[in-house]
Amino acid sequence: MLSSYQTSEWPIGVRGQPSVRNFSPFTNTNGNRNIYLTTAGIIGAGTLGFLYTLHQSVQASDIYQHPPHYPWPHNGFFKSFDHKAIRRGYEVYKQVCSACHSLRYVRYRELIGVSHTEDEARAEAEEIQVQDGPNEAGKMFMRPGKLSDSFPSPYPNEEAARAANNGANPPDLSYIVLARHGNEDYVFSLLTGYQDKPEGFILGEGQHFNPVFPGGAISMAQTLFNEAAEYSDGTPATASQLAKDVVTFLSWCAQPEHDKRKKVLINCWLIFGTLAVSLWYWKRYLGSSMKTRKILFRNLTKSENKK
Ligand code: HEC
Repeated sequence: MLSSYQTSEWPIGVRGQPSVRNFSPFTNTNGNRNIYLTTAGIIGAGTLGFLYTLHQSVQASDIYQHPPHYPWPHNGFFKSFDHKAIRRGYEVYKQVCSACHSLRYVRYRELIGVSHTEDEARAEAEEIQVQDGPNEAGKMFMRPGKLSDSFPSPYPNEEAARAANNGANPPDLSYIVLARHGNEDYVFSLLTGYQDKPEGFILGEGQHFNPVFPGGAISMAQTLFNEAAEYSDGTPATASQLAKDVVTFLSWCAQPEHDKRKKVLINCWLIFGTLAVSLWYWKRYLGSSMKTRKILFRNLTKSENKK
């Protein structure tokens, strides 16, 4: 019986034809195409390098200090948030930052199971006053907060906030950790980086010198000092401890799905990793008969050729 290779396209044993053929798919590579691809690769890499260099030089001309990189406990593929730090950070936010900053996109119920029990979270919520209404008389009224309420702004509107802070608006802190270049490192360095202003540096009224803040002049005074807040778990409240904890809390605010996301990702890696290895083995198994096949060609003998 003829195998599929022994068709007229593969004239086997015809007199005058070479009896061995090269089946390699790589012999017909187009030389020009290779040259084009190599040139495009070199130009592409050059352009990228040039753009990167330009970007670096622009950064070097900025007048602010880039924050160092700190080893946050939740950085890393297998790391989750330090939930005790989130709880302490909440205490710092409540005692210090909430005097000026809101957390409009975080609700009290989100603390449940993260840093507080349900009863604790409800008790925290009830400490704030929220405007609700209108009631039957058509009047707005104030009521204690509920679990579904978000962390309120201390100011009724932006103008009031600016008026109280020398014209600067304290930004909402819900997403601040992700909204700034340098993320946690930046906010930590900002809170701990206040310095005396250098000779000749001009500050406006109510401004303070902070080399991490772009421009150096920030309208937020230093707020974290040793013992600036009190911890319920007895941790020594040094300025850097307060800053680290409040930044961990703010980082959780900006990405409350963080721990779950990493868990799902680990599961995905396990499932797809197993699948990939199985598929690879299956492919080897299926292909083994093809890969180990030997095709031999020989010239037909005279008598066979006559047939
Ligand atoms: C007395 C009011 C006040 C308090 C208290 C306060 N801030 Fe601020 N904060 C401000 C103001 C005002 C600005 C805007 C500064 C500016 O734009 O110059 C600001 C800006 C910021 C910024 C943004 C900086 C940027 O890059 O734009 C962060 C982050 C911040 N505050 C974090 C905190 C944290 C964390 C706390 C608590 C530990 C805190 N603040 C306490 C008033 C305050």
